[in-house]
Amino acid sequence: MDYTETIDEILDHYRNPRNYGELPDATVRAKDSNPLCGDVIEMSLKIEGDRIVDVRFRGKGCAISQASASMLTDRLKGMTLDEARSLNRDYVLGMLGIELSPVRVKCATLSLKVLKLGIYSYLGSSTKDLEV
Ligand code: FES
Repeated sequence: MDYTETIDEILDHYRNPRNYGELPDATVRAKDSNPLCGDVIEMSLKIEGDRIVDVRFRGKGCAISQASASMLTDRLKGMTLDEARSLNRDYVLGMLGIELSPVRVKCATLSLKVLKLGIYSYLGSSTKDLEV
């Protein structure tokens, strides 16, 4: 399979991340790291009613983790909390569009985990059994 275009898109998101930065009026913020490498993603969400109306992220890490956060935040604006909460690993892998090794899957899902930590924290739910 030829992944050239997909890889170009991932590299573009890595080099020119969308929604990068901080939301001063964020409703909730969340942060987590990939335990395998220590790379970090931090996300701020602005929530109105049951909808995500704005989102930013900051982070330090590999191309997959940063591109994944950039692509994911692009898709989050306008989503309801229920929609965002139901996103899963397969959604993120489909969004990236390339096959990844298990170690790289952790890179890809770091932003999803941070998103869910933020939503769970906003809803006051326990994150004990959080899985992505
Ligand atoms: Fe650290 Fe990918 S190598 S998140």
